[in-house]
Amino acid sequence: VFAHLVQAPEDPILGVTVAYNKDPSPVKLNLGVGAYRTEEGKPLVLNVVRKAEQQLINDRTRIKEYLPIVGLVEFNKLSAKLILGADSPAIRENRVTTVECLSGTGSLRVGGEFLAKHYHQKTIYITQPTWGNHPKIFTLAGLTVKTYRYYDPSTRGLNFQGLIEDLGAATPGSIVLLHACAHNPTGVDPTIQQWEQIRQLMRSKGLMPFFDSAYQGFASGSLDADAKPIRMFVADGGECLVAQSYAKNMGLYGERVGALSIVCKSSDVAGKVESQLKLVIRPMYSSPPIHGASIVAVILRDRNLFNEWTLELKAMADRIISMRKQLFEALRARGTPGDWSHIIKQIGMFTFTGLNPAQVSYMTKEYHIYMTSDGRISMAGLSSKTVPHLADAIHAVATK
Ligand code: LMR
Repeated sequence: VFAHLVQAPEDPILGVTVAYNKDPSPVKLNLGVGAYRTEEGKPLVLNVVRKAEQQLINDRTRIKEYLPIVGLVEFNKLSAKLILGADSPAIRENRVTTVECLSGTGSLRVGGEFLAKHYHQKTIYITQPTWGNHPKIFTLAGLTVKTYRYYDPSTRGLNFQGLIEDLGAATPGSIVLLHACAHNPTGVDPTIQQWEQIRQLMRSKGLMPFFDSAYQGFASGSLDADAKPIRMFVADGGECLVAQSYAKNMGLYGERVGALSIVCKSSDVAGKVESQLKLVIRPMYSSPPIHGASIVAVILRDRNLFNEWTLELKAMADRIISMRKQLFEALRARGTPGDWSHIIKQIGMFTFTGLNPAQVSYMTKEYHIYMTSDGRISMAGLSSKTVPHLADAIHAVATK
């Protein structure tokens, strides 16, 4: 009965790893998926995560019962505090509801389904370009997806004018997806002054902010600084949604641990919102997994482990920044034509190189370098050893 099916294409991001795995070349390099690697090119389990796991194993009172539909309650509270700030008025006034979800994707999907069911506007505006999964998540959640201008290819920076024009022309009340920091795929973020203008415009038009926070701590190395845009929106007393992921900042990729917070106007409303979120979650996956959220809770509740985490996080962020400098210098040393300063200006895990699909495919074929066809490279996948190989490849396509 399924014989009529056509073979579906691989995912534009995760499919890069599939192709990489099939390549027998010893010099192959995977700069596709945004996953941190060490200088040795190996995945990293944070020390602090190992310690937290050890604590969990040693605790013989721990059981494997189902979590409640909303997940691990302590994890939810600590996650809201981490993103909104320990002194957040919304937390103090008990008007935030937080549910544990399956990483960033799951949090966005649950939030999207909730909005499609209960919010009066069904249109969500996403940045042009954005993470490839965003439009799929929200379309399947039942929302209508539209885009707003964000990136200017000529400056490889923010198209702030276009952004303001497009949000200004959006239907009042529409939902707007905002990347909290380290925009994926461009690595281009608004300044704090620009965020303030965005906030004023959105509030004046009643646009609903839905933040995707996948890189807290990765943009600046500071957890608080990277959460600042969200906190500006919460400080004005208005509503917003926040999807949080611990994949990158705690390296918990495969544990699928994240949270969705909805900041409401009152504690009474927050309670009702939570009751409705449970109706969204239960038929989807009943309740979330326990292990990853327990690791996060152990780390966030303990001052020493928390401090240790911030140091490890900063070390990852710093290594990525050093890769940016090394790649930029390597291109300069080769005299590669073009202005490559965006490599050191863009922030977070990715550089949006400006390479076109034909150049990307040449680099994959001739140099065994794998990346998404939009020219995005994961800086976290580079090391001092592999920078020259990448620089050679970029130089070759830029002089072809
Ligand atoms: C990425 O953009 O590479 C990551 O967020 C991983 C993913 O799921 O796409």
